[in-house]
Amino acid sequence: MGELSGQECDAVLLNSFVIKKQRCRVYFHRGVLIWESEGAPYSRVTLPLKDVVGVEYEHPSELSAYTNEVVCQGESPEEHTSFTLHYVVHAKHNKLRLSEVTLTHADPRQVGSWVKTIRNFINELTYRPKSLLLFVNPFGGKKRGQKIYEKKVKPLLARAGIDTKVIITKYQNHAYETILNYSFEGVDGVACIGGDGTLAEVFNALVRHAAKEKGVDIDDPNAELPQPSVRVGVIPGGSTDAVAYTLHGTSDVQTAVLHIILGESSGLDICSVHNESSLLRYYASMLSYGYLGDVCKSSENYRWMGPKRYGYSGFRKILANRGYLSEVSLLANDDSPAVGTKCYKNCSKCLDDSSDVEKSSADWKTVKGKFFMVSGLSLACACPKVPNGLSPFCHIGDGCIDVVLVKHTSIINILRLLLCLSSKTGNILNLPFVEAHRAQEFSLQATPDPKLELLDPGAPDAQTSVWNCDGELLQGTTIRIRVRRQLVRMFSQRMEEEEIEPSCFVCK
Ligand SMILES: *[C@@H]1O[C@H](CO)[C@@H](O)[C@H](O)[C@H]1NC(C)=O
Ligand SMILES: *[C@@H]1O[C@H](CO)[C@@H](O)[C@H](O)[C@H]1NC(C)=O
Ligand SMILES: *[C@@H]1O[C@H](CO)[C@@H](O)[C@H](O)[C@H]1NC(C)=O
Repeated sequence: MGELSGQECDAVLLNSFVIKKQRCRVYFHRGVLIWESEGAPYSRVTLPLKDVVGVEYEHPSELSAYTNEVVCQGESPEEHTSFTLHYVVHAKHNKLRLSEVTLTHADPRQVGSWVKTIRNFINELTYRPKSLLLFVNPFGGKKRGQKIYEKKVKPLLARAGIDTKVIITKYQNHAYETILNYSFEGVDGVACIGGDGTLAEVFNALVRHAAKEKGVDIDDPNAELPQPSVRVGVIPGGSTDAVAYTLHGTSDVQTAVLHIILGESSGLDICSVHNESSLLRYYASMLSYGYLGDVCKSSENYRWMGPKRYGYSGFRKILANRGYLSEVSLLANDDSPAVGTKCYKNCSKCLDDSSDVEKSSADWKTVKGKFFMVSGLSLACACPKVPNGLSPFCHIGDGCIDVVLVKHTSIINILRLLLCLSSKTGNILNLPFVEAHRAQEFSLQATPDPKLELLDPGAPDAQTSVWNCDGELLQGTTIRIRVRRQLVRMFSQRMEEEEIEPSCFVCK
């Protein structure tokens, strides 16, 4: 340790501190803090300041001070001989955790100078949000939204010094209506504690807000949409958290909050759904006709059952095993969704703009048939119950939707499909009765079933299904879907690759 390395030479700060009762040399150099022990046992820790959430003086008599803002008010830094850094560590299974280290020095002026330098550095990370609008849905999922906020979200946001305006939603579409009329001046992001439905309210309103400002006609499916000015954070608190799970690789709340605080963003594709005359909705995870549409429709009757309702009505719909005649048109290229790489941090498909070139070679094709389910997936739709997702190689920001067509088949095959979905490595796209296309656009036209028409004339409801759009019910027998590449920027560094599990025997 005697020789001077280049790193030491242009270090911004260099000093000796006591860390965990051990003398350490501490360098601060190009945004990285390094401390190494001066004697045995030797240890060395490297901490990039982009992972630091906050720094504070440690008051000798208030070592546990979570309330440091109050404690330190009006005190001069000269009185402090210690400071604590709160920083993010990457734990297993994509979880982010907050850790801390306290550095002590006999000279309070040294401590003051380090704290000031580190604070200045963090303040200059301009991509971090300084002010947030946060919606808390107290009714979603297990009705824990408000508790999650108080216990896990509020203390972290305060620690990071983010100025947060909190709105507890009182009714469905409360977040949606608030955003439509909101002035976002001085606001860096909108976040929500809720499920995919709450998040959908947020981006539906943000996209409309941005289109209105630019005078874009959203009912025109060919119109190009402007990107909303603020970024979006999602904190799981609903019955389905597909978007949060896909972005962060976990439904963990603390992880989601830390992704917001650290401020890096990832572009999320948004799909617009139109009928012949109007925009119906924007979605970010899945639009599904047939089985999941029916489940969505009938589970409205079982709302009182809470999150379990999907299981109950789902089972009834499987037994019914209905098929729906439809014609699906797709603007697709030859890229098969059944094979490829998964979408992780630094995904080349999502970073690569040249995939736009590939798209110009796309052609319209038509598939007619009787389907158990037709789904347009904007992301893999993995969740703890469907660990590999409905379309494992679907990408969040490549400007494409994976259109998955499950043909009407035997009930044994449908049970095979469900087993495959619940397995960690299952890929339903390999099943013989499943067909998949990677498309930029698709449309579906429900066609009346001539056999049913004879049995039950004039009952079109019995012959067509409805749409499940990010968990909400949507009506329409002819709809058109178009993907908007990375229209919304989400606070997330994305999930990292996990180790590979043994393969699945069901989906062969
Ligand atoms: C939104 O603002 C407009 C005018 O600025 C007002 O007429 C309308 O009632 C507002 N809507 C809501 C939901 O507050
Ligand atoms: C399309 O949707 C709009 C809005 O929901 C509705 O008013 C209109 O009647 C629908 N058009 C058709 C042809 O279904
Ligand atoms: C992602 O890219 C960044 C910047 O190029 C790099 O520092 C980081 O190691 C990459 N992460 C992964 C998981 O590939």
